[in-house]
Amino acid sequence: MSAVLSGNAPQPKEKQAVSSFARFTLGSRVTPISVEGYRKLARKRLPGMVWAYVDGGADGQVTLADNRNGFQKWRLRQRSLTGISKPVLATRMAGVDVSLPIALAPTGLCGLTRWNGDWAAARAAESAGTRHVLSTGSSWTLEEVAGRTEKDHWYQLYPFGNRAKVGELMQRAEDAGFTALFVTVDVPVRGNREGERETGMGVPLTFTPANVLDAAMRPRWVYELFRHQRAVAIQYAQAGAVGVRAAVMAASEQDRYMQGDLSWDDLMWMRQRWKGKLYVKGVLDAEDAARCVDEIGADGVVVSNHGARQLDHALGSIDALPAIVERIGGRGEVYLDGGVRRGTDVIIALALGAKGVFVGRPYLYGLAVDGERGARNVLDILRDDMVRALILMGCPDVKSLDRSWLIPASSATT
Ligand code: FNR
Repeated sequence: MSAVLSGNAPQPKEKQAVSSFARFTLGSRVTPISVEGYRKLARKRLPGMVWAYVDGGADGQVTLADNRNGFQKWRLRQRSLTGISKPVLATRMAGVDVSLPIALAPTGLCGLTRWNGDWAAARAAESAGTRHVLSTGSSWTLEEVAGRTEKDHWYQLYPFGNRAKVGELMQRAEDAGFTALFVTVDVPVRGNREGERETGMGVPLTFTPANVLDAAMRPRWVYELFRHQRAVAIQYAQAGAVGVRAAVMAASEQDRYMQGDLSWDDLMWMRQRWKGKLYVKGVLDAEDAARCVDEIGADGVVVSNHGARQLDHALGSIDALPAIVERIGGRGEVYLDGGVRRGTDVIIALALGAKGVFVGRPYLYGLAVDGERGARNVLDILRDDMVRALILMGCPDVKSLDRSWLIPASSATT
């Protein structure tokens, strides 16, 4: 994090004098300074089929664009001469204190982006003072990630029709010390991501001379993939399975469990079994959100369209947020993910009533470029963005953000 914004350890005077003039690095390029900067580099580092998996959205990607465009509809109020120089970012998310209102969303097959993706991400979150949600489709097991981290993290569960499997995963998560459960309800069937299908990134994987050559041009990525064999959704395979055997098992099991006939009863069953905090992820409808909290007893919801990877033409997350906040009316926690790329996006979401946000692709870009350090740097960039913007707005604390800080862009530009 930049010392100026964080107020952390300033550099010695002589060094500052030199660094303000010039800096030399042995790396081939300057470290990215924005999420978009990481995105551009990540695209070069990853084979096309993995890039399609990470970056793509469903169908015509209308919702993917809306996830970003929704933020353009708002402008921030700017109060002058407030004397605010150290705004407070610390808050609580899912029952724990976090140093900023941003946590890392669950992403399946994280090991494709970086061999140690899941635990590198969890460690990056930890060192930044926040948390990571481990996906059911993770490349490392619950126990492996718990063993490589210090804090209690959170677990994401796909509510398969198979209660035996779901119960087993919930028990393992509890035993491994995961304190909050995020039940994802927007994948009754896999979304149609054409970029993945066109590049061979399906189940089963399709290898063509073109995508093999494309991967071969990233020798480090290929080397790490074969050395660590962590490209699979390991939790779907039987305990102890590794490498190709795990991959084959995971692929066939995953499809067997993914069922569209899940009901509110299934969710209720999970709520009754899970003693910790429980959030329903992938809610876009105010009625559903209220039902999650009032009927099921969920602690809250994550307003999310799965990063626009499922139903195209679904509402952009930030567009869906206000009605859900209003309907829940403080009876549960409301979080948001989808399209958050700048600190000002986080501020807008909080001002619209979110308690915090999650980011998915941004930290995957960071992992692809520079592993744990890259993911951490992405969080630092967002933190710096937020501090700077709050100072400029004259807002002392993220907890004081509300609608009074927002101006609809339509009224600002007419
Ligand atoms: C996801 N997401 C996701 N969600 C979930 O509940 N379980 C999962 O296994 C995955 N897997 C996954 C893989 C990849 C490559 C991406 C990009 C996303 C969705 C994720 O948790 C989150 O909702 C979105 O990523 C948020 O949008 P942004 O921040 O990526 O725009």
